[in-house]
Amino acid sequence: MTSESQSLRQTIRQALATRQNGTVTVLSSLLTVEDTLGYIPPEAIEEVAELTHTTVNDVWGVASFYTNFRFTPPGQHVVEVCWGPTCHLLGAPAIVKAVLDSLGLAADGDTPDGGVTFKYNTCLGACAQAPVMAIDHQLMGRATPQSAKELVSGVRAKQVTGAGR
Ligand code: FES
Repeated sequence: MTSESQSLRQTIRQALATRQNGTVTVLSSLLTVEDTLGYIPPEAIEEVAELTHTTVNDVWGVASFYTNFRFTPPGQHVVEVCWGPTCHLLGAPAIVKAVLDSLGLAADGDTPDGGVTFKYNTCLGACAQAPVMAIDHQLMGRATPQSAKELVSGVRAKQVTGAGR
């Protein structure tokens, strides 16, 4: 096992051991890993199987059933636009277009340089501030196409200088 893999396992074990959620299931464990790392590495599949006393195949079965899980590391920065009903009604489509145009993407996913991952969110939990977007989990309410473009430019600038990490 490489030291990188060991360190990843340590992070996964710590996240699973310290979560607030009381019910331990395969799905809740995978969600904890996804929240912590932004993706599900093979090490997590093994750790979750051990923790929940099931098999690696069973855990893969659950993980692959849900299209929201990703199995490769996300970009250096993650931009999310809420696509929930409130945000949708209050302007999310225009925000999405501004973000996609700024990133040079046609749909959700990663920029070719791997710097930014763009994804939809079904509700960012701040409906009163709709439309809402988030950059690296930091919420921005009452977004406009112009503010979205500026935020994405800011992320790109951080990516170039490496100031974001
Ligand atoms: S619907 Fe967008 S934050 Fe809830």
